[in-house]
Amino acid sequence: MNRKIGLFDSGLGGLSILKELVKLLPNENYLFYEDSINNPYGQKSEDELLKIVDNAVKFLLKEDCKIIVIACNTATTCCLKKLREMYPDTIFVGTVPAIKVAYDNNYKNTIILSTPYTMQSSRVEELIHNYRRKDQNIINISGENLAHLIELDNKIEIMSLLNRKLSKYKDVTDSLVLGCTHYSLIKDEIQSILPNTVLLDGCVGVSNEVKHQLEEHKLLNNNSAGNIQIINSKDEKLVERSFGILRS
Ligand code: DGL
Repeated sequence: MNRKIGLFDSGLGGLSILKELVKLLPNENYLFYEDSINNPYGQKSEDELLKIVDNAVKFLLKEDCKIIVIACNTATTCCLKKLREMYPDTIFVGTVPAIKVAYDNNYKNTIILSTPYTMQSSRVEELIHNYRRKDQNIINISGENLAHLIELDNKIEIMSLLNRKLSKYKDVTDSLVLGCTHYSLIKDEIQSILPNTVLLDGCVGVSNEVKHQLEEHKLLNNNSAGNIQIINSKDEKLVERSFGILRS
């Protein structure tokens, strides 16, 4: 039987990773659990997040997923270590802000834009410690409720928040790390405020890691055409919108 790749996020953000995965591994079956009812993750406490994330993992394991992709920086920075302890037989791949990509490309003025939880997490502190160049200036910014506004597709509020947060960096920054998977869905809007800034996310890196893990565990499916299933925890009507974004 062709077992599924399970993914979850607090809603639409996971689509930015699912898109890359489907390009890289078209023969796989995917189950994306969009936990919109609990959006935004990034404004919750560690205890709340652990409960919510554990429920999502349990759901995907019940569906016999062969690997679980945490398509969310907030859930990864908060819970990945604990999940690996709680489920030692499960293969997890997490998502963290692409700070290493900025390092590898020698950028000098880097904004990290992430959720309030991710921004202050010890994981991000660790990544900055490990991958900050001596001559690199890092600006760590909270996107506040941006993920929620993206979920609601509130274009006016999205632009007003982006302007308030980013316009002052227009001529000083060469790179911006999209530290929340929702933010990868509004690249054009961010780019309209920071036209000369390179936007970096971890979607390709996460997909490559999923492939690597599946190869390593001999779990790759090369034989049949794959399919995609999306389940939304809030409203099944939202699934249609997600398929639209996936195809765009
Ligand atoms: N997309 C998620 C992330 O990468 C969570 C956003 C949220 O719900 O706050 O952090």
